[in-house]
Amino acid sequence: MSANDLRHQESDTLGPHAGIAAAANVSGMDAYRALVAEAERDYEGFWAGRARAMLDWHKPFSKVLDESNAPFYTWFEDGELNASYNCLDRHVERSDGSRTAIIFEADDGAVTAVSYAELLARVCRFANALKAYGVGKGDRVVVYMPMSIEAVVAMQACTRIGAIHSVVFGGFSAKSLNERIADLGAVALVTADEQMRGGRPLPLKGIADEALGMGHCDSVQHVFVYRRTGARIGWNSPRDVWMHEAMAAQSTQCEPQWLGAEHPLFVLYTSGSTGKPKGVQHAAAGYLLWAAQTMHWTFDLKQNDVFWCTADIGWITGHTYIAYGPLLCGATQILFEGVPVYPDAGRFWRMIERHRVSLFYTAPTAIRALIKASHENPDTHPGRFDLSTLRVIGTAGEPINPQVWQWYYEHVGNDRCAVVDTWWQTETGGQLIAPLPGATPLVPGACTLPLPGICAAVVDETGQAVPHGHGGLLVVTRPWPAMLRTVWADPERFRKTYFPAELGGATYLAGDGAMRDAHTGYFTITGRIDDVLNVSGHRLGTMAIESALVAHPGVAEAAVVGCPDALTGEAIVAFVVWKSARPEGVFAAQMAAELCAWVASEIGPIAKPKEIRFGDNLPKTRSGKIMRRLLRALANGEPITQDVSTLENAAVLEQLGLPR
Ligand code: WTA
Repeated sequence: MSANDLRHQESDTLGPHAGIAAAANVSGMDAYRALVAEAERDYEGFWAGRARAMLDWHKPFSKVLDESNAPFYTWFEDGELNASYNCLDRHVERSDGSRTAIIFEADDGAVTAVSYAELLARVCRFANALKAYGVGKGDRVVVYMPMSIEAVVAMQACTRIGAIHSVVFGGFSAKSLNERIADLGAVALVTADEQMRGGRPLPLKGIADEALGMGHCDSVQHVFVYRRTGARIGWNSPRDVWMHEAMAAQSTQCEPQWLGAEHPLFVLYTSGSTGKPKGVQHAAAGYLLWAAQTMHWTFDLKQNDVFWCTADIGWITGHTYIAYGPLLCGATQILFEGVPVYPDAGRFWRMIERHRVSLFYTAPTAIRALIKASHENPDTHPGRFDLSTLRVIGTAGEPINPQVWQWYYEHVGNDRCAVVDTWWQTETGGQLIAPLPGATPLVPGACTLPLPGICAAVVDETGQAVPHGHGGLLVVTRPWPAMLRTVWADPERFRKTYFPAELGGATYLAGDGAMRDAHTGYFTITGRIDDVLNVSGHRLGTMAIESALVAHPGVAEAAVVGCPDALTGEAIVAFVVWKSARPEGVFAAQMAAELCAWVASEIGPIAKPKEIRFGDNLPKTRSGKIMRRLLRALANGEPITQDVSTLENAAVLEQLGLPR
């Protein structure tokens, strides 16, 4: 089916997925429009109703939205609840708790499952252990863990006692981990001896020790270690504690700490346009409400579904759609330790078949890699597997181009599943713009329409709405419950970055460009408007990579730009000025390799440039500003259209790679 065919069906409220619409949680566009209208009519009433329906409150709220201190909004402020109670206890209390919460498939294919009752018992044991080691309400706990049930236990245990978790992706370097621990003043770190990925063990505890040895980490009292592989690791007694030993000593009962709705649930760092990552801080109730609500709406979650989100727990998608959303809804979910291409690129499809997955959520970058692999080895093509259990298949984290969307729709969804392209961010807490499987007619490459209650718009630099069919800035004009509350320890940065004065100071600026279709009003995301790159769905600030490069003793200056890449979406190209003579030939290749390894150790392997070019200088304007647009053209091998008459040293362009 082509994009045009789909477009023609827009008037048909069943869209191209009639089978799904009939039984959907939101069935047909009229039902969607009714929800949108309900929110427009009574914004606070709409959200209050959802908050009562989705969450169990220890103390009911009487206030809904407080806008008096904009943009520091609060939601349901005088209500009290506990996140882990909502994710676990309430399901166990209402049934016998025997329902499977998590089916864990290890890198080597071994499967372990835990029921809700068992998960609750483990969370209580670890919550008690944290308390026994002095961790309490408001303390920060950094989690540097492999994909594991234990990672979920660690996060949930923190929420049970009111500690604030901050998960650091296991692929980040010691330096990145150190910076986050220091920024938070964390009292504890939860890690593992090693992690298994693609048949290889990779260190975690060793990196954690290195991070803690880099200074500014005196706040850390204890390091809890999950034994994953049994590898020999360094041990620092009494600081280091085995997670299983600490848990064995504790009871399986732990009264949840009742917390105000606005109590911080977690901090998750993400890249911005300055060198320093931002600690995005979320509040408990609003975030949880939206995690649960979007499970119902975007994934059309039902009682018998098996849900699988392939994201890593270290990113927001792994928070909202692994650690919280599915558990809040009492769903059964798959948790996968490994990588999509091990032992071969049929791994995802084999797992969907094996576990009878019905709702699947992954990243465009994984789909692109698997398309390529299926051409190389037809045995890994999804058509070789029984994917008939699938109903909704989603993507997030980066634009999905129409061809890739089409392949996903045809070969994974067998022309009968709803493809939900979901737009959202670490800051938004959950999906904001996405189709509803039983309502929204689909168009490849468009994330379609805002979810009910979300006031998304496209505006110009002054905040004026731009007409459909024209590009502009993606904004959200009214606060929503799952929005970030602040940037950890930096409220001014929060205000300036997300609520700029030019837009009036109360409109959320997403940092993405967008355009609405002239005919349907559907949103399409056109890419970032700031110096943030999206490489394989990972957000990376160019400034952070530049600072890492400049920290190398041989580097005088560096500039980083993105260029389109068929596999990773965007790739990093770095332009470097060497302190001594410009490296050439073999030496240049050696230095480029060394700089890649350097960036990996400064930030993490995900930030390695794809290409490094050396020049005697960087192209700059008279005022000394690096001409990034010119560098972007050079990286893409495009002809130079900019005025370069102001360039001091035009020969630099040749060195940095004029189109060949
Ligand atoms: C991009 C990931 C196009 C966007 C959930 C955003 C998308 C950034 C989409 C957030 C989508 C996310 N289509 N682009 N469906 N979803 N993005 O914080 O640039 O890791 O600002 O959150 O990813 O990345 P983050």
